[in-house]
Amino acid sequence: MIYTIAIDGHSSTGKSTYAKSLAKDLGWTHIDTGAMYRAITLYGLINFNKGHSINEKKVIAALKNIHLKFIYNPITDTNDIYVNDENFEPKIRDLKVSESVSTIAKIPEVRSFLVEKQRELGKSESIVMDGRDIGTVVFPNADLKFFITASIDIRAQRRYLELKNKSSIITYEEVKENLIKRDYIDEHRILSPLKRAEDAYLIDNTFLDKEQTYHKIKQIVISKLNL
Ligand code: DC
Repeated sequence: MIYTIAIDGHSSTGKSTYAKSLAKDLGWTHIDTGAMYRAITLYGLINFNKGHSINEKKVIAALKNIHLKFIYNPITDTNDIYVNDENFEPKIRDLKVSESVSTIAKIPEVRSFLVEKQRELGKSESIVMDGRDIGTVVFPNADLKFFITASIDIRAQRRYLELKNKSSIITYEEVKENLIKRDYIDEHRILSPLKRAEDAYLIDNTFLDKEQTYHKIKQIVISKLNL
């Protein structure tokens, strides 16, 4: 039996962390689709930077030459994303990428390219996939769906601390502004906007810490999938 669990939600709610823990506990594969959009964005920034933006036409034309894959990294215990055999993982969460990724994620050709890859990845094994449109578009028939959210202030605070710990020079206000902008673009784009699937469990973790949130998710998984 192959299972699919979809975890969608707002930026900086910890989606990927919960998806990763869940996959590990279940012995399944975790796929972070945000990393795929970020990798294409970084590729665009490296190769087709126009100064303040990325040349979208060139990104679209290059898709056929972009080979994406995930390779497990035992040192960091993560599935690192590779573009044409180069490990992009160390740089995909830089602010520069975060600032451009929503624009790249709006491009229909980019979305269909990645959605096809995501469906392929879920064909042969049980997965926990996180993103924005997993339960609505990529796997509308997923066995279980979650939608994770939290207040903008708490998300900005968490993201700010994360970036500060990585010694990024960035202010709380900049982080919050980037999140507000990304939320807006993600929720208002025509193609696959971020929204909760009707059958997704809503988890608001504004007042929950990581352990409490994960416990809640895990309880639902155990009771609903009879594992
Ligand atoms: O989860 P994240 O913050 O790493 O995602 C980065 C961006 O990619 C996010 O701003 C929206 C986009 N994204 C998307 O449009 N669809 C997905 N399935 C995953 C991410």
